Amino acid sequence: MNYTETEKEEIIVSEKKPKKFFVETYGCQMNVSDSEIVTALLQKEGYQSSSSPAEADVILINTCAIRENAEDRVRTRIRDFKSAKKQNPGMIIGVLGCMAERMKTKLLEEENLVDMVVGPDAYRSLPSLINDLEEGGKAVNVLLSREETYADVNPVRLSGNGITAFISIMRGCDNMCSFCVVPFTRGRERSRDPETIVNEARLLFEEGYREVTLLGQNVDSYQWFGGGPKKDLEKVIAENKNREIVNFASLLEKVARISPLLRIRFSTSNPQDMTDEVLHVIAKYHNICKYVHLPMQSGSSRVLEMMNRGYNREKYLQRIKAIRTIIPGCGISTDIIAGFCSETEEEHRETISLLEEVKFDYAYTFAYSERPGTPAAKKFKDDVPEEVKSKRMQEILALQRRQSLESNKEDIGKEFEVLIEGYSKHSRRNHLSTNSHKPIAELMGRNTQNKAIVFTSEKYKPGDYVHVRITKCTSGTLLGEVIN
Ligand code: SAH
Ligand code: F3S
Repeated sequence: MNYTETEKEEIIVSEKKPKKFFVETYGCQMNVSDSEIVTALLQKEGYQSSSSPAEADVILINTCAIRENAEDRVRTRIRDFKSAKKQNPGMIIGVLGCMAERMKTKLLEEENLVDMVVGPDAYRSLPSLINDLEEGGKAVNVLLSREETYADVNPVRLSGNGITAFISIMRGCDNMCSFCVVPFTRGRERSRDPETIVNEARLLFEEGYREVTLLGQNVDSYQWFGGGPKKDLEKVIAENKNREIVNFASLLEKVARISPLLRIRFSTSNPQDMTDEVLHVIAKYHNICKYVHLPMQSGSSRVLEMMNRGYNREKYLQRIKAIRTIIPGCGISTDIIAGFCSETEEEHRETISLLEEVKFDYAYTFAYSERPGTPAAKKFKDDVPEEVKSKRMQEILALQRRQSLESNKEDIGKEFEVLIEGYSKHSRRNHLSTNSHKPIAELMGRNTQNKAIVFTSEKYKPGDYVHVRITKCTSGTLLGEVIN
């Protein structure tokens, strides 16, 4: 067969093996969501995603900078990849996310660890950066943006259960809690066009997904009036009298109306911005989950003030009361930082007493880790010794474990509607070890309060809603039986 020169070129191009990339994700749900966006952006450019780093031409590590130990873990992992690169010198190692943004060119120059550094607002430039690298040199883009929300990108779901998915509704954070690096690594707060959020959720539902989690650093501050900085809101309202303004409460309603079979969760709420209006919307719709994650950080008003959290102990307790009054039976969890700058033993006791008073269903506890460049690092001394931080953290953890067990025990005998997400860990392990082809019967799902529930059934599958009566529990899981 004869080909023209152009046809020959086309054949060569089409026969070129597609480049493979591998993404590894650290940190929060937002990072998981970002890796799904990165995957979509690269696939669109003809790259193929690979589940094995050994096979990949490009390795991307999506990183977290929230605490020092998160960064240490990433460094260890990068070193592993760097030694693998000795066997495959053409391989590109790229660092994405918050640590990339925080360290910028330092990772390239001083530490000489990687080939590419890309911040959270610069993922659209990944394909061109990879091309630049292939022509030699290093690639960096850590520009933060006031507009980027990746609203038009349809993420490639990596979580894999086909039932639950994340949807990012906003990016960045303007809160400036003094301990937190996020405003520096993710830039200014901006909300995403609600129409694109609703479309993404609808598409997921049509594909068989049954739960979406709306993600933002501070979802209560979501606001859409055509984008733009929030301070311009009044001007925009004056100029566009008929324009709809969407806040978090109205966004929740829009997503809830897609289908009563689509569950909605959201993270994270902020005590200074969470309104009763939002709580009433949660109460009104059966499919908006009765679960609020409301980080308290500390039980001491003096420490909260130093943290620049915008609320004190009383205001926090008042928000908890509002949740429990407006949404009876709502699940509540929190975040706590132990050993913030100058925290005294009495102030730590205030955190303990707040925990005892609220009785959270779950709490995530962290030892304070000073982050370079944050207001706390500039203004305060990180003066609580590490062993004291650790002792306080252990005390909080032990108390919370007891309280989580109590909270779970109270559920024994109760009946819950459960969305089945998949198979229990125990069930998966058995399946692997026996290599059995029998159907795996131990299922895992969650109730609206976000508690994990394990039960056996041959009849139901992931994606189904079932009613389960709780018969037993541990501090982490409820066990039950299906009610016919
Ligand atoms: N609004 C965010 C908070 C992100 S950080 C959200 O979406 O959850 C998550 C939690 O990490 C914070 O609530 C805080 O408890 C903890 N954290 C943040 N910075 C920290 C630091 N420097 N040291 C220890 N814990 C920290
Ligand atoms: Fe960090 Fe506070 Fe924002 S914890 S992400 S600055 S709400």
